[in-house]
Amino acid sequence: MSSSSGLATESGPTGTDLRDGAEAGFRTLGVHGAVRPRPDGDLSPTTHPHRPTGAAQRPPIQEEVVVLDFGGQYSQLIARRVRECGVFSELLPHHVGLEEIRRRRPKGVILSGGPASVYEDGAPPLDPELLELGVPVLGICYGMQLLARALGGRIERAEVGEFGRSELTVAENGRLLAGTPAAQTCWMSHRDTVFSPPPGFAALASSSASPVAAFESTERGIYGIQFHPEVVHTPYGQQVLTTFLEDVCGCERTWSATSVIEEQIERIRAQVGEGRAICGLSGGVDSSVAALLVHRAIGDRLTCVFVDHGLMRKNESDQVVSTFGEHFQIPLIAVDASERFLARLKGVTDPEEKRKRIGAEFIRVFEEEAAKLDDVHYLVQGTLYSDVIESGGSTGAATIKSHHNVGGLPDDLEFELVEPLRALFKDEVRAVGAELGLPERLVWRQPFPGPGLAIRIVGGEATRERLETLREADAILQDEIRKAGLYRELWQSFCVLPDIRTVGVQGDVRTYGNVIAIRAVTSDDAMTADWARLPYDLLEQIAARMIGEIRSVGRVVLDITSKPPGTIEWE
Ligand code: XMP
Repeated sequence: MSSSSGLATESGPTGTDLRDGAEAGFRTLGVHGAVRPRPDGDLSPTTHPHRPTGAAQRPPIQEEVVVLDFGGQYSQLIARRVRECGVFSELLPHHVGLEEIRRRRPKGVILSGGPASVYEDGAPPLDPELLELGVPVLGICYGMQLLARALGGRIERAEVGEFGRSELTVAENGRLLAGTPAAQTCWMSHRDTVFSPPPGFAALASSSASPVAAFESTERGIYGIQFHPEVVHTPYGQQVLTTFLEDVCGCERTWSATSVIEEQIERIRAQVGEGRAICGLSGGVDSSVAALLVHRAIGDRLTCVFVDHGLMRKNESDQVVSTFGEHFQIPLIAVDASERFLARLKGVTDPEEKRKRIGAEFIRVFEEEAAKLDDVHYLVQGTLYSDVIESGGSTGAATIKSHHNVGGLPDDLEFELVEPLRALFKDEVRAVGAELGLPERLVWRQPFPGPGLAIRIVGGEATRERLETLREADAILQDEIRKAGLYRELWQSFCVLPDIRTVGVQGDVRTYGNVIAIRAVTSDDAMTADWARLPYDLLEQIAARMIGEIRSVGRVVLDITSKPPGTIEWE
C-alpha cells in the first residue's frame, strides 16, 4: 500500500496490492457436499441430461508453467507473478505427482521456497524424475536447495540466516540473470545456504551470506536462485522470471485475465449445454462477474436471485437491481425479504446466533425462489482460485472453503456447480469484470460480510432503527473516503454501532446518543490487517458530518487495532 495518498501504513514484505482474500458475501453460499462440486474442479462437462453430446474435455491450457508448492510464504505470489508475465500458472502441492504435471504439459516448472531444511526428517522431497520431464526447472530458495542437494552441490546450515533485504553481486549473468546489473538488491529468507553449485553448474551470483545465490546449467535446463524474485523488494525479480519464462521456457506470453473470457464462455456452454442455471447475487464482485460470464455464455437461461435481507448498505440493493436487471437485462428475481430477516433477528444479540439465523433464512428464501423456476440444474458460484488454494486444493481439487459461510445449502439440493472464476485471483476477476462492463463501483467494491450490517451492531439486537443509523453513518464514511481518493487503498472501511449510549451536549441540550466506531484497514488478504492511518482532517470531517447529519449519533471513535491481535470485524 502506498502512503502517497495520506495513508501511512506498513507495507508487508510482498508489498503487493493483491486482494485475494475472501470476498465476504453470499458468494459463499456454502457447499457442504450439498451441491456437487466437479470432481476435478475442471469445467469440462460431466454426465448430465443437458450436456451436448461429444463436448470436449478441458483443452490443455494455452501455455502453462506449474509452480510446485513446498510451503513457502510467497508461493501463491509466484503463480501471480508468472501470470503477470502473460503465462498461465497454477500452484500445485509439491506431492501432486508426475502424472498430473505431465498431463498439463507445462512449458516449465518452478519449485517454490519453503520453511523446511533439506536435511530435516520429513522435509518435502524432490522427485528426481521431475528433472527428466524435458522442461526447464527453476528452484527458488528451498527449491534451489533441493536442486543443489539432488544434483551434488554443497549445502549447509549457516550460523546466521539471511532474512530481508540483501545485496546481490552478479559475477556472471549467464542466461537467467541476463540484462541485470552486477550489483542489485534482493529479498532473502533462508538459513540453509548453498556453498558450491552442483558439478557442471555455473555459479552466477553471491550475497554476503550466500556464497552461491544463483546457479544454472543451460544444458540441463536447471536453474536455481536463493532470493525471492516474486516480491517487490527484489527489483529485478520480475525480469528474472520473465527471462525464465520467455527465453528459457520459450513461452509466448499471450495469457491475460481477460483472454480467459472467451475460453470460459466456451466451457460454460460445454458444461451447461441447453440447461438452465441460477446464480445468487450478493452485490459483490465475485458473484457479479460469475453471473456476467454465465449470462454471456447461455443468455437468458441464467436467472439471478438477489435476496435483499435488509442488512445491506445504503443504496446497495438498488444498485444490484439497476445493474443486473436493467443495465445488463439479466433475468433477475429480487426478493425484498427484509421483514422476514428482521423478524428472525428479533431479540438476538449473540453474533454467532445472528449469523446462523441469517444464513438459515437466506437458504430458505433462496430455495423458495429456486423452486419456482422450472428445470434448473446448475448453480453458478464465484469461487476464486485463492479459495481453492486455501482449501488445500488446486483447480484439480474439489473442496471449497466454508469459512465464514453464511450458511450451507442443504444436502438435497440437486445442483451441479458452475464456477467460472475457479482459476482466477481476485484482481484478475476485477479485470474480467471491468472488461465485461461491470460498473467501476462494483468492480472495486470492498468486501462486505454476508450477514451484512447485522454483525456490525455489536452486543445488541439489529433493529430497524439501529440499522438505519448505522447505514447512514456508513454512507457518510464511504462518501468521504471516496472523495479523499482512498477507497481502493483500503481493504475495508466501515462503521460499527456498539449497543451503548454516551452523554453529549449539543447546543445547550444534553444528549444521550449512539457511538459510531470507524474501522478502516489495509490488508492483502484479510488474514492480517493494519489499521489505516486516515488523515486527521478527514477523520474530523467524517465525525462532524456523522454527528451533524444523524440525530441519534452523539460520539464518533476510531478503532486503532490491527489484526492480529484484533479481527477486522468487531464480532
Ligand atoms: P475477521 O473479522 O475474521 O474478518 O478479521 C475477515 C474477513 O471476513 C469477513 N467476515 C465475514 N464474511 N460472513 C462473511 O461472509 C461473516 O460472517 C463474516 N465475518 C467476517 C470480514 O468482513 C473480513 O473481510
